[in-house]
Amino acid sequence: MSRRPLAPIALALALLPLACSGPKKPADEQSGAELYATYCKSCHGKQGRGSFLNLGPSYEGLAQHWTAENLLEYIADPKTFAAADERLGEREMPAIDPNVSMEARRRLVEHALGLMD
Ligand code: HEC
Repeated sequence: MSRRPLAPIALALALLPLACSGPKKPADEQSGAELYATYCKSCHGKQGRGSFLNLGPSYEGLAQHWTAENLLEYIADPKTFAAADERLGEREMPAIDPNVSMEARRRLVEHALGLMD
């Protein structure tokens, strides 16, 4: 029998917070992909093809509808934007954290647009 049978368990417990925590960097230092992972991926999927529980739609076929400008508007206030767009409004999408700077949002939006076709 091992002299320290609990060592692997202790190690796993020690590493658990690392595995569970998201990126530590503030939003302003995150790349577009990191920002997307933080704020959008849970519902739209890493590749923008929807999530397991269908929390958000796939981005397939959406490139024709979105530019950096209108997507920035949309994520800031999805409700108001959706009210003026007949394709949207069936479900609700949350607005992005208001503390995320415009520069970070632009990086995020460029990444999201890159996932659309
Ligand atoms: C809590 C889940 C959730 C999160 C987080 C989320 N979305 Fe959404 N998203 C939705 C839902 C639900 C809709 C459908 C809204 C509607 O029908 O009006 C949607 C719709 C959209 C659409 C429009 C799809 C279309 O048909 O044109 C885009 C683009 C989009 N989201 C981008 C984003 C981006 C970028 C982020 C991150 C900043 C994000 N979403 C975060 C749930 C989410």
